[in-house]
Amino acid sequence: MTDTAKFKALAIDITTRVHGTLGASDGFIPLHEPEFLGEEEALVLDCIRTGWVSSVGPYVDRFEAEVSAACGTGHGVAVVNGTAALEVALRVVGVMPGDEVLMPSLTFIATANAAHHLGAVPHFVDAEARTLGLDPVALRAHLDRIADRRDGVTVNALTGRRLAAVVPMHVFGHPVDMDALAEVARDFDIALVEDAAESLGSRAGDRSCGSLGRVAALSFNGNKILTTGGGGAVVTDDPDLASRAKHLTTTAKVPHKWAFYHDEIGYNYRMPNLNAALGVAQLAQLGIRLTQKRALAQRYIDSFVGSEGVAVFVERPGTTANYWLNTLVLSPEMAAARDTVLDVLEAAGLMARPVWEPLHTLAIYADCPRADLPVTADLAARIVNVPSSAKLAGNRA
Ligand SMILES: Cc1ncc(COP(=O)(O)O)c(C=O)c1O
Repeated sequence: MTDTAKFKALAIDITTRVHGTLGASDGFIPLHEPEFLGEEEALVLDCIRTGWVSSVGPYVDRFEAEVSAACGTGHGVAVVNGTAALEVALRVVGVMPGDEVLMPSLTFIATANAAHHLGAVPHFVDAEARTLGLDPVALRAHLDRIADRRDGVTVNALTGRRLAAVVPMHVFGHPVDMDALAEVARDFDIALVEDAAESLGSRAGDRSCGSLGRVAALSFNGNKILTTGGGGAVVTDDPDLASRAKHLTTTAKVPHKWAFYHDEIGYNYRMPNLNAALGVAQLAQLGIRLTQKRALAQRYIDSFVGSEGVAVFVERPGTTANYWLNTLVLSPEMAAARDTVLDVLEAAGLMARPVWEPLHTLAIYADCPRADLPVTADLAARIVNVPSSAKLAGNRA
C-alpha cells in the first residue's frame, strides 16, 4: 500500500469509529457546544428585570463564591475572560515588564499573550507525552543549564532577565504533574501560576485543578465545559493575592461612598452581572457535565479498542480529567496522515481540529527564549481533537 492509501484507510477507520461513538446524526457535529439545562434563562431575565446587568450585582458575588468552592480555593475574582484572568494572575504574583515567564509552547496563544501584555517575555519549555503538558524533568534540566541566582532573584543567565513565573497548562483538561512542577518552582524560587482555562472540574488525586499553584486562571468562554458567554476567573487560597486581583480588575478604586480615588493604574476587567448570572446557573451543572463528559470519553475509548495507528488519550492514573476535548494521538509512523484524517472527518460532518501551532513556531513569538522542544514538535504533528460536547453523551451518560 502507498502512504497515501494507508493514510486514507486510517482516516476512514477513525471516521467510522467516531461515527460509532456518536451515533447517527443528520447534520454537522461541532467540536464543542455549550449546554443550558438549568436556571440560565430565569437568572439572566432576573438581571434584565432588576436592571442589574452591568459591572456589579449579586450574581457576580455568588459566582465568585461558587467558582472558588468548585476549585477548592478560598477566593475567586470574576473577570471578562480567561486571558485577562491569566494576565492578572501573573501580575499579582509580581511579574513585571522585562521579566521572563516560563510556559509550554504547546498551549493556546492566550498563555503567551497574557505575559506579553504585561511587558514580560514568554520562555518556552517542552511538553511530556504522558500529560501533554509542561515536563517537570525537562524544566529542571533547562533551569539547571540557564538559571542563575543574582541578588536574591533567579535570572536567565543567557538574557539577564528575571525568571518570574512558570505557567503550566492542563491540556484539554488533563492535569499536568503539578507536584513535580511545584518542586522545581520551589527549588528555583519561581512563582507557580496555573493556566486552568481548560480544566474546571479536573482533579489530581482529590485536589482540583485551579488549587494546585499559588493562583490560577479559568476561562468561561463559550467553548469551555461551562460558559458565562465570555468570562474568566482568578482563583487562589491567598487572601492578599485575591484582594489585589479584585482591586486591580475593578479600576483600582479605593472604596468610598462617593469619591473617585484610584490608587494605581488598574483595569476594567469586571465580569458583568448578566454573564455572572449565566455562570451561576452553569456552575450548578458542573457535576452533571463532568458525568456526561466522562461518559462520552469512555465511549470513545471503547470505540477505539483494537485500533491501529491511533489511540485515544486517556487520563493518567491518579488523575480525573474533565475530558474537555477528546483527543486522538496518531502513532509516530502515521504523523503524516494527520491532515488527511482532519479532511476526512470534516467531509463526514464531524468537526475536528489539530492542536495549536506550537507558539515558538509563530513569527510573533519566534524570537522568545526557549529550551529544546522535541516532544512539543512531535506531539503537535500527531494530535486530532474530535467532537466533545457534553450532550453527545445523550441520556446514556
Ligand atoms: C489554555 C488556555 N489559556 C487561556 C485561555 C483564554 O481564555 P479566554 O478565551 O476566555 O480569554 C484559553 C481559552 O480560550 C485556553 O484554552
